[in-house]
Amino acid sequence: MATNQRSGTSGSSISIHALTKRYPGSSAAAVNAVNLDIAPGELIVLLGPSGCGKTTLLKMINRIYEPTSGSIVIDGVEVQSLKASELRRHIGYVIQQTGLFPHMRVAENVAVVPKLLKWDRDRTRERVSQLLEVTGLPPEIYANRYPSQLSGGEQQRVGLARALAAEPPTMLMDEPFGALDAITRTRLQDELKRIHKQFSQTILFVTHDIEEAVRLADRIVVMREGRIVQVGSPLEIVRGPADQFVSDLVGSQDVLRRLSLMPARTAMEPLHGTPPDLAQSISGEVFLREALSMLMESGDPFIAVTGSDGTAIGTLSMTSIQRAAAPPDTPDR
Ligand SMILES: Nc1ncnc2c1ncn2[C@@H]1O[C@H](COP(=O)(O)OP(=O)(O)OP(=O)(O)O)[C@@H](O)[C@H]1O
Ligand SMILES: [Mg+2]
Repeated sequence: MATNQRSGTSGSSISIHALTKRYPGSSAAAVNAVNLDIAPGELIVLLGPSGCGKTTLLKMINRIYEPTSGSIVIDGVEVQSLKASELRRHIGYVIQQTGLFPHMRVAENVAVVPKLLKWDRDRTRERVSQLLEVTGLPPEIYANRYPSQLSGGEQQRVGLARALAAEPPTMLMDEPFGALDAITRTRLQDELKRIHKQFSQTILFVTHDIEEAVRLADRIVVMREGRIVQVGSPLEIVRGPADQFVSDLVGSQDVLRRLSLMPARTAMEPLHGTPPDLAQSISGEVFLREALSMLMESGDPFIAVTGSDGTAIGTLSMTSIQRAAAPPDTPDR
């Protein structure tokens, strides 16, 4: 198991081989001969239309469902050889309907797995407070409330905190933010990214929202009818869809849509030497569509692009945006 230098938390490696699931009575396989190797600490987003097998794939990893054939190996151990209940204590699982226990207070909900693992009371209490802070739920306000006394977004945060409680090296997240309004959703995506940066768990995140996929993923896995049709970085998927299906799914023929999926850093001219004195700057993580608005509104020929520490790392002009926005090679079929 790889150990993360920054925090001491580790992410698992997951190796999926020829994995197939056929539900009784249905002729088509819900998951069909899937192969996927996931590195420790990777954030993988499974993207695809309704019914393509995303949930089925996830549920075979924590053995809610048993595969028809094929194997899943986590940190070198075949999951079939482990007891399902034992396995699930080490895999965080977040679903859209948070599944919080209604009769337990927030703090008790978050402490469920540490209790199962028989952590002592002080360690549990400390961990619960820390997680409520991390997920934006100050314990002095939220710890003693019941789920019914929370908004949908707050319940979703408790679900996230609960899944993180026992520091699982693997997190499975099935459309966890699907039911939330756009602002809450973006905020939770940012929080998830921050938590992932800090703890480096291996995360499998399911969505059918391409923007969410691009914002979160190290790699996106595109699925269709039980099969994987493309695996790549968000930029690789947006710029080079493997076929017409992926192209339609990401809407990559639409220039403005493409610009809303590509971060500024991917189109900038990198800086060599002293940063120029430019009036406007944007973060390299902001999408090009926003950079384009800024250029148009200000009338400036260039804007600076800044890195995570706020210093300039490049410049953007209309020309660089146009170049980035050029349509990808259209896959025809
Ligand atoms: N318990 C089940 N019994 C029989 N068929 C099932 C079962 N669960 C899912 N299926 C079928 O398997 C296929 C894949 O379903 P799955 O839930 O994995 O899709 P999904 O990609 O998660 O879709 P969504 O985005 O709608 O959640 C679908 O055709 C579905 O009808
Ligand atoms: Mg699903």
